[in-house]
Amino acid sequence: MKAILSHTAGPPSTLKLEDIDKPVPGPKDVLVKINIAALNFFDSLIIEDLYQFKPPRPFSPAAEMAGTIESIGAEVSAFKPGDRVCGYNTSGCAREYITIRPAALSHIPEGVSDEQAASIMVTYGTSYHALKDRGDLKPGETLAVLGASGGVGQAAVELGKLMGAKVIACASTDDKLEFCRECGADEVVNYSKEDLKNRLKELTDGKGVDVIYDPVGGPLSESAFRAIGYLGRFLVIGFAIGEIPKIPLNLPLLKSADIRGVFWGAFTAHDKKGNQENISQLLAWLADGTLKPHMDSIFPLAETAAAIEKITARDVKGKVLIQI
Ligand SMILES: NC(=O)c1ccc[n+]([C@@H]2O[C@H](COP(=O)([O-])OP(=O)(O)OC[C@H]3O[C@@H](n4cnc5c(N)ncnc54)[C@H](OP(=O)(O)O)[C@@H]3O)[C@@H](O)[C@H]2O)c1
Repeated sequence: MKAILSHTAGPPSTLKLEDIDKPVPGPKDVLVKINIAALNFFDSLIIEDLYQFKPPRPFSPAAEMAGTIESIGAEVSAFKPGDRVCGYNTSGCAREYITIRPAALSHIPEGVSDEQAASIMVTYGTSYHALKDRGDLKPGETLAVLGASGGVGQAAVELGKLMGAKVIACASTDDKLEFCRECGADEVVNYSKEDLKNRLKELTDGKGVDVIYDPVGGPLSESAFRAIGYLGRFLVIGFAIGEIPKIPLNLPLLKSADIRGVFWGAFTAHDKKGNQENISQLLAWLADGTLKPHMDSIFPLAETAAAIEKITARDVKGKVLIQI
């Protein structure tokens, strides 16, 4: 079978397309023929050994996928050959087949495409967990989303609206902000041209933002935090800009505000039932058309390196997919 492999730590140009043996599922595993794999920003980190997970080499990037079950281990009862499934696996999906534990899989509902199903696990899974379980976002509250046109950001905009918040999308170009409006954002801030703190205060009539969703980091984090409201919640999602910010602790004190870490991967391990409920809800919203994940682009497997480079070039609106 064909697989994209990382043999040494390095940029996307180090990835190789190779022929390797098709895996055989163990008694507790399932063999999935992958149709679509999806990339995330962290794929650019994991191949460089800069991510918290360091899979043994050689490994394939791409942490989520959709496909069809080809065979099952003797002890598997929840799935059968022919079932359409989507799943999350930290890495290993940029290849034709994967053996995976059934707990990492969900059935794809009728009417949902493989492209849609592969698009929601990490981005919508993270953003729903962040806003619901960590952010306690309530209807009528204000939500500011940084990096709002990116993978997790776009999902946060869409889910924030669905949860009844007034959503302020913040991004670096007018083109990206136009896209955020199409995804449902009520207000927009271009943080490459406007002062983030002042604009967020203006847009909340001086009251400050209730929940801030930050997957970008760097200097933007403190600017946004300075516009948080009384009892606000600041959700630490990631540091796409490449710099981990240091927030002066007088700022949360002055607003009685919380800084709340969000690590979806840990949530999937610590609260399997809670995560499964969240994913089932997201798949149901996909099936009835409530959620509409945006696909930025779809690359053939052989061009996985170019797909990851598009993400690091800050040139993505929504998801980047790999057609296996
Ligand atoms: N905590 C969790 O559980 C969790 C789960 C998934 C992802 N994450 C993290 O969330 C962050 C975003 O992930 P994503 O998949 O949404 O990424 P993405 O699609 O590439 O979006 C990231 C956004 O960050 C902004 N950005 C600023 N500087 C950037 C740079 N140097 N390179 C790329 N983007 C830059 C871009 O928006 P502008 O150009 O508008 O600034 C971009 O749209 C990553 O740090 C990722 O590791 C965390």
